[in-house]
Amino acid sequence: MSLDKTIKGLKASFSKELSKSKTSSDLEKFRIKYLGRNGKLASLFEEFNKLPASEKPRFGKELNILKNELSSMYQDVVGGSKGSSISNNTDFSLPGYNLPDGNVHPLEQITYEIKSIFQSIGFSVAYGPEIDDDYHNFEALNVPKHHPARDMQDTFFINPNTVLRTHTSNVQIHLMENQDPPLRHICCGRVYRNEAVSYKSFCLFNQVEGLVINEDSSFAEMKGTLEYFVQEMFGKNTKMRFRPSYFPFTEPSAEVDIWNEKLNQWMEILGCGMVNPNVLTNVGYDNKKYQGFAFGMGIERIAMIKYGIKDIRLFYQNDKRFLEQF
Ligand code: DAH
Repeated sequence: MSLDKTIKGLKASFSKELSKSKTSSDLEKFRIKYLGRNGKLASLFEEFNKLPASEKPRFGKELNILKNELSSMYQDVVGGSKGSSISNNTDFSLPGYNLPDGNVHPLEQITYEIKSIFQSIGFSVAYGPEIDDDYHNFEALNVPKHHPARDMQDTFFINPNTVLRTHTSNVQIHLMENQDPPLRHICCGRVYRNEAVSYKSFCLFNQVEGLVINEDSSFAEMKGTLEYFVQEMFGKNTKMRFRPSYFPFTEPSAEVDIWNEKLNQWMEILGCGMVNPNVLTNVGYDNKKYQGFAFGMGIERIAMIKYGIKDIRLFYQNDKRFLEQF
């Protein structure tokens, strides 16, 4: 039957001409000639309509196979997805769209910076649990039940004995329980507090904890360490001061402020102190032989001071307009 031959011939000339069509305008002319509304394939379908009813099932099937084959050969060449139709005004020579680069979340960037500053002076990075028992979060840190210091940190309880940690200081206890001195670690991670959400406090935030334990660490060494950190983080000429303070797990304790040139005021950035001998006893260390210092700071606070961010909630809203600036 002549339609058989026509199908074969069309397939042969289709693939020959397709291989010669190099530019986008060649391809478009080619498409109109073969696959267009009045093209060669369409005219085969017209011939098909004239066939007697008895021949229609066989040729109908063959024509459909042909149609699929030709359009997928064409799609392979133009690089489009199989089976979709190409609109007349598609210019295949245009460069593609630039996908915007993603970027690392500002808190992650600051965490990375903090880690590398402390790693450069010999600290290792440790991890600890975000869900912990009352003992590690409070009791072992010299904060017994009913101690007023518990009011400083409104706590999310999972059950009466299990909390979402209120600070990374719990990791101090895990580290000391699992290792003998000397220790020189920092730990970064999320902490949780049941506080009213506002521009300056959020129910979750991040902290960095530092812990050094050995036989001869001193308050002077702690000061030197934290001065180095502040200079690396905020610049060599940053003014800072140590202010006496109170934490149950350190004695003596201090807080560090840095001078904010733009706002013309001191800003508190961290708490620190010599590890309280009671804490050393709680983990089974000999507090006559070993001593050490610890410090803790909020990562959001460091980021807010460094970048002049006024609202802590921005870190958690995933607004691209905010995130893209870092
Ligand atoms: N855990 C304290 C807080 O969340 C911060 C802190 C203060 C940590 C003094 C320390 C420290 O390790 O020595 O407010």
